[in-house]
Amino acid sequence: MIDKRGVMTNIGAPRVRLTLAYAALLALLLAAFSIIVYVLLSMVVFQDIEPFRDDAGIVAAAHRMLDVYLVRLLIANGIGLVFVVAVAAFLAKITLRPLERAIALQRQFTNDASHDLRTPLAVIRTEASVGLADGSLPDGARDQLRIIDEQAQRMQRLIDQLITLSHLDADSALDREPTDLRAVVNGVVRDLAPLALARTVDLKLGRSESAVVMGDELKLSQLVGNLVDNAIKHGRERSTVDISVWQNRDTAFVAVSDKGGGIPADDLERIFERYQRVNGATSNGAQRNGASEVHGLGLPLCRWIARAHGGEVTARSTLGEGSVFTIRLPAMNP
Ligand SMILES: Nc1ncnc2c1ncn2[C@@H]1O[C@H](COP(=O)(O)OP(=O)(O)OP(=O)(O)O)[C@@H](O)[C@H]1O
Ligand SMILES: [Mg+2]
Repeated sequence: MIDKRGVMTNIGAPRVRLTLAYAALLALLLAAFSIIVYVLLSMVVFQDIEPFRDDAGIVAAAHRMLDVYLVRLLIANGIGLVFVVAVAAFLAKITLRPLERAIALQRQFTNDASHDLRTPLAVIRTEASVGLADGSLPDGARDQLRIIDEQAQRMQRLIDQLITLSHLDADSALDREPTDLRAVVNGVVRDLAPLALARTVDLKLGRSESAVVMGDELKLSQLVGNLVDNAIKHGRERSTVDISVWQNRDTAFVAVSDKGGGIPADDLERIFERYQRVNGATSNGAQRNGASEVHGLGLPLCRWIARAHGGEVTARSTLGEGSVFTIRLPAMNP
């Protein structure tokens, strides 16, 4: 698959396309070669019977001979086509091999670097929380520590996303077990409460019912966490973000709604592609707080996680009023 920016994310589909392109080229060469051979043969045969061109029997025999050559050529072409496909597949494989290696190396690097960054970040967060717990520190210093902790937490989320993305590109499997989405939602609300507080956003649990799915708890937390993070980040300050979780028959639902600027209808599908952001004033929070908070990785990851669980994540939005992101997953106990 090649995404909007031309980044090759999965080598399978390009290999098929390249094989087809090579096969078409080789088949054209084969056909051109056969036509040249047939024309030359005809010229030689008609040259040979030139002295007997008034003899209808000889001319008819020459035509019959050419017909036989034509049938043989067509059979040879048919057999040749099988070789053409085999050669094309081989050529595509060796052409893409260095690219596959480069992609695997890049994925490995992203994964290793992300894992290596986790430790220093954990130290920063621990030191910040020790400092925050120290009542003797002046208020100014505590505010600075709070900002450091908040930003370190954001970096941690980004690193987790990069790790998941590198797994996603490698088509790695999910670690599934019965997971209650209500517990996932509660965990996310707990984790993101400081961020909401810093943005003066009121995080509210609406409908909160048990909804058990067969899922990867960590990835489901990322899925819900990204949607809530977006609602806080791209929503409006001093507004409310409402999170609901419930089950209806055999489907589990999580809905995250905000009262932000909304997303233009044309962008509603585009935002689920990697590195895509909505331009303009709609994603006000993130832009106000600097471009570094806007990576365009969250929603593609959400979509992948939802689909990997056999579900989907969709968005509805009204400009000027806000957005609702809904996760639907197959539930375990209907
Ligand atoms: N609740 C929302 N309200 C308004 N705009 C949103 C909302 N959620 C997403 N968007 C828009 O969709 C874009 C893509 O979101 P996505 O979560 O993929 O990336 P991001 O939030 O910009 O960065 P990150 O990789 O840190 O999540 C955002 O940049 C924003 O423009
Ligand atoms: Mg996001």
